[in-house]
Amino acid sequence: MAHLLITGGAGFIGSHTALVLLQGGHSLVVLDNFSNSSPEALRRVAELAGLDHDSARLQVIAGDIRSPADLDRALGAAAPGGERVAGVIHFAGLKAVGESVQQPLRYWDVNVNGSRLLVEAMQRHGCRTLVFSSTSTVYGEPQRFPISETCATDPRHPYAQTKLAVEWMLQALETSETGWCIGRLRYFNPVGAHPSGRIGENPLGVPNNLFPFITQVASGQRPLLRIFGDDWPTPDGTGIRDYLHVMDLAEAHGLALDWLMQHQRSLPVLNLGTGRGLSVLEVVQAFETATGRTIPRELVGRRHGDVARLEGCPRLAASTLGWRASRNLEQMCRDGWTWQNANPRGYGG
Ligand SMILES: NC(=O)c1ccc[n+]([C@@H]2O[C@H](COP(=O)([O-])OP(=O)(O)OC[C@H]3O[C@@H](n4cnc5c(N)ncnc54)[C@H](O)[C@@H]3O)[C@@H](O)[C@H]2O)c1
Repeated sequence: MAHLLITGGAGFIGSHTALVLLQGGHSLVVLDNFSNSSPEALRRVAELAGLDHDSARLQVIAGDIRSPADLDRALGAAAPGGERVAGVIHFAGLKAVGESVQQPLRYWDVNVNGSRLLVEAMQRHGCRTLVFSSTSTVYGEPQRFPISETCATDPRHPYAQTKLAVEWMLQALETSETGWCIGRLRYFNPVGAHPSGRIGENPLGVPNNLFPFITQVASGQRPLLRIFGDDWPTPDGTGIRDYLHVMDLAEAHGLALDWLMQHQRSLPVLNLGTGRGLSVLEVVQAFETATGRTIPRELVGRRHGDVARLEGCPRLAASTLGWRASRNLEQMCRDGWTWQNANPRGYGG
């Protein structure tokens, strides 16, 4: 069992991963500035993991990855048994494509500068095991499917550009300095929630992604779902994405860390998806079937920055980590709905 730092551990993917790691016996330090999350998420993670109120197995530090002092505090926080941080999972960052087009410098600052400061702090603390959250949007608009890791990258907006820049920075780092064990994971579209309904996605403001939008329409918080384009070159004309259950994604992080610690070298870049893309209409229909709710919708024009299809080949993750997404679309819909139903105002409710 290891003592680990999770940056952005209060967020959507981070909170589910924190739970999986605590249940696996690890102890954690979470560093989060709560700019897109709530401390309540971590309180519920502790509750789901069966930790005592004041358990030192989950230490929470409110701070920013762009602050060397906050990073030193987080990396210097020892485990209950005195162990030092042995590895880092780096989720903290900004992730909204449209916002990144409006505020590119902010994205370069948080995503790239923040990541650079994190690895510099890791150097200071002698910790060289890192898992980094990258994104399938680095592939741009590929023409062959499913997308494998050898497919050319073509990041088309500042969000994807900052993620690819960090991948490159990490590659240069491990080339220049021995001892680094790095995993770069390119996620496709994580959705759903923990089946308990206690933790889930908590978008502040209008959701950017399809799933939280659907669940908010189903609960009556929003009048209708806007579907961006029905003239894409796909069978039903709506965009296709590779949705995967957030618990499958969380489990992949546990496996990636185990792999790095066991092999003491870096992983190849890995896609994390199911390999099966679903159109917007297929998802809406599956949601209606799984929940018995009707989703009013309207078709509007394409959204700037969107692409027709993203569908990842998960074969390398399977052969390297032994990981495969095991939860199906019905579970994604059901668990996402359980969370939304129990927490109509997210963690603020
Ligand atoms: N959700 C997705 O669809 C998706 C897909 C691909 C990649 N990713 C990447 O995975 C990571 C996690 O995504 P998520 O969906 O959980 O996002 P999220 O916004 O829910 O979580 C990110 C967390 O980082 C924190 N944070 C932001 N800036 C920070 C800073 N400067 N210092 C400290 N903490 C900060 C936020 O408060 C939040 O808790 C992100 O890096 C994102 O780019 C997400």
